[in-house]
Amino acid sequence: MPVIQAREISAASRLENVRYAIRDLACVADEVVKQGHKVLPLNVGDPLNFDFQTPPHMIEAVYKAMRDGKNGYAASPGIPEALEAIRSEAERKGITTVQDVFVTAGVSETVDLCLSALINAGEDVLTPSPDYPLYSAVLCKLGIKLNAYDLNEEDAWQPELADIERKLTPRTRGIVLINPNNPTGSLCTRQMLEQVAELARRHNLIVFSDEIYDKLILDGTPHIAFASVAPDVPCVTFGGMSKNYLVPGWRIGWGIISGEAGAVKTYTEGVHRLLRARLCANHPQQYAIKPALEGPQDHLPEVQRKLRSRRDLTQKWCESTPRVSCVAPRGAFYAFPRIDIPESDEIFVKELIRQKHVMVVHGSGFGQKPGTQHFRIVFLPEEKTLTKAYGSIGDFIQERYKKL
Ligand SMILES: Cc1ncc(COP(=O)(O)O)c(C=O)c1O
Repeated sequence: MPVIQAREISAASRLENVRYAIRDLACVADEVVKQGHKVLPLNVGDPLNFDFQTPPHMIEAVYKAMRDGKNGYAASPGIPEALEAIRSEAERKGITTVQDVFVTAGVSETVDLCLSALINAGEDVLTPSPDYPLYSAVLCKLGIKLNAYDLNEEDAWQPELADIERKLTPRTRGIVLINPNNPTGSLCTRQMLEQVAELARRHNLIVFSDEIYDKLILDGTPHIAFASVAPDVPCVTFGGMSKNYLVPGWRIGWGIISGEAGAVKTYTEGVHRLLRARLCANHPQQYAIKPALEGPQDHLPEVQRKLRSRRDLTQKWCESTPRVSCVAPRGAFYAFPRIDIPESDEIFVKELIRQKHVMVVHGSGFGQKPGTQHFRIVFLPEEKTLTKAYGSIGDFIQERYKKL
């Protein structure tokens, strides 16, 4: 038998810049677990890892759909009753110019589809920095050069309009807003949304407004949908069930296309071409969309109450810990404290896992202004666990930097 030399199959070079820091840290955690330690995970935004439960009527709806034989492929845009419920939800959010809605496998697929349907080689889309890393990963996959605009920490992490103006090129096609934001927990003010809308009008941009956390607002103020402020501006509002309805594993998200009909028609057709190419989103789970959006909402005040208490505890710790400061999060379940340390935040979080077995994510995994360091905390765990974690992080900072 001739000896066949196995040659390495290389991955596409486009992927070199694809980073997903949140899961990449798992290798360091694995080392620690192999040594017999338990790692405290403050890194993944999955409420079901903690004391949050899926509303039972949603589980019943999916179970019934499976029993009723809804196990084949669904229509590519989604099942009619779900689409109707999403349209009604858009109306409740004050979006008056809905042109189309569609269901996807989580907001992750909405992001992928909506960016893919828009961009040609050589064009770009403005994404926030810091941002949820899926946006840059999808753009890298498409071979698109990243064009990130800063969020301003000194202004409660609002988009920095002057930076957006600076970054705009003749080939910029759209702008991403994440509101409430992951990783900062910030909310865009109405005035900011109006200013972004004005910019979109002037430069003929589509706005992708990721509002996946819109029901997890912690300070009692109502969430403002971008599309409700700018009904004329081409926009896709991203929404889903992972966070608001506590089913991240079901993989259900959606897009709501709004704006003037003539302006979004061709783009919408492009999105539908991709929707058909990938067949459909999970079928039985779509039967929970209407019960979720229109059925009992009583889990929400309870979720918000728990998150508010855990946010307050987190904020108090940030304010009382040397070298740490934080803009108080107003939505979602993330805090993004700044740390004043003489080394990179990536080294900080890796050593924190090794020495104290607490896992947070470094700011550089999300993007941040040069010369600044941060880390992202997921404050989903119960107060007792958070207190223990913050005690360990405080000790770590004290021991590691005491001589400086
Ligand atoms: C801002 C943001 N957008 C989208 C997603 C993806 O959500 P999904 O589970 O619906 O794919 C996440 C998940 O954490 C997120 O934080």
